[in-house]
Amino acid sequence: MQFRGAAPIPGGRPGEERSLAIFLRNYWYVAAWSEEIGREPLQRWLLNEPVVMWRRGDGTPCALADRCPHRGAPLSNGRVVGDDIVCGYHGLGFCGDGSCTQVPGVKTLPSGLSTRSYPVAERWGWVFLWMGDPALADEAAIPDYHWNDDPGWAGRGETLPVAVNYTLVRDNLLDLSHAHFVHQDTLATDAVVDAPVKTEFDGKALRVVRDMRGIEPSPFFKRLCGFNGTVNHRQEVAFTPAANIVISVRVSSNDNPDHAVENRVLNAMTPETDRSTHYFWSLQRDTALDDKALTDAMFTANRDTFFEDVAVIEAQQKMLDRAPEPARPVRWHIDKGVDRAQRWVAKLLSEEAAQAGRAAAE
Ligand code: FES
Ligand SMILES: [Fe+2]
Repeated sequence: MQFRGAAPIPGGRPGEERSLAIFLRNYWYVAAWSEEIGREPLQRWLLNEPVVMWRRGDGTPCALADRCPHRGAPLSNGRVVGDDIVCGYHGLGFCGDGSCTQVPGVKTLPSGLSTRSYPVAERWGWVFLWMGDPALADEAAIPDYHWNDDPGWAGRGETLPVAVNYTLVRDNLLDLSHAHFVHQDTLATDAVVDAPVKTEFDGKALRVVRDMRGIEPSPFFKRLCGFNGTVNHRQEVAFTPAANIVISVRVSSNDNPDHAVENRVLNAMTPETDRSTHYFWSLQRDTALDDKALTDAMFTANRDTFFEDVAVIEAQQKMLDRAPEPARPVRWHIDKGVDRAQRWVAKLLSEEAAQAGRAAAE
């Protein structure tokens, strides 16, 4: 077994001032479930920024900085009137593109009065916000989560608040070997520790693949999907920046090749602050689509599993904050995907910083 040093994970090093509030900006982030946004303003902090979201009269969602440019009151404390939001303090009104639409007592609006608006796209039951330069927003770059409302799949999900930097959620998912130790009642199998891990990177996505053949099924698949004998279990964890992971799982019976289940676990880890994350997740399956009881049972089992992860990574964040990581932390083969993701995001961050520097100099 080879052990080696690797890039530091959040928490910094002794004596080192290290900010965790470094986020990729020019990306789409999941900001809300569709049903969370309506005619009442919704405030949500994203990447350390206050955002207010609502729906216009025609139902389309929009998002502005939740800070009135007059004296800084949250616009979300105001109300939606027609397509616009009206500040609850002195009545400035703004439409979804950020333009000022009313100044009480003033007939001619001052030109150029506006506030920041965020490009918004709604797909598959989720509302995505572009958190960087609006001129670069490209809907073709929205991460693919189509399983969330594909009629060929069934399932449900929720948002978990997690008190950690988003990278700890990402790294937890990129290394599923922890299932053997953290998820004894659901996902544990000996094979997840013993099976070789393959890491594939094509410049667009990073994939961590485990192919476990002829293994004892995990408690989750035994109990909920009726697997008794040995199974083949393939796990693919696909990461795309900024903070998206789709886990594809296929389990098939060795005795009966017709007995097979495909699952997708969708994970969008949107930073709220440098030490808190809105963890949007959803579990979808391709079988027994009308079985509502199965949907609920799978949701509950998965949720209980995530609570186990949350307990571990919140304790990890506290430890990293109080006792930062040494210069050369231990790593071995299970860390391949985590290391690759950390290096990839570090490179993208420096590219974004260089791009922003060039734009500022122009
Ligand atoms: S603070 Fe919003 S109008 Fe005055
Ligand atoms: Fe886990």
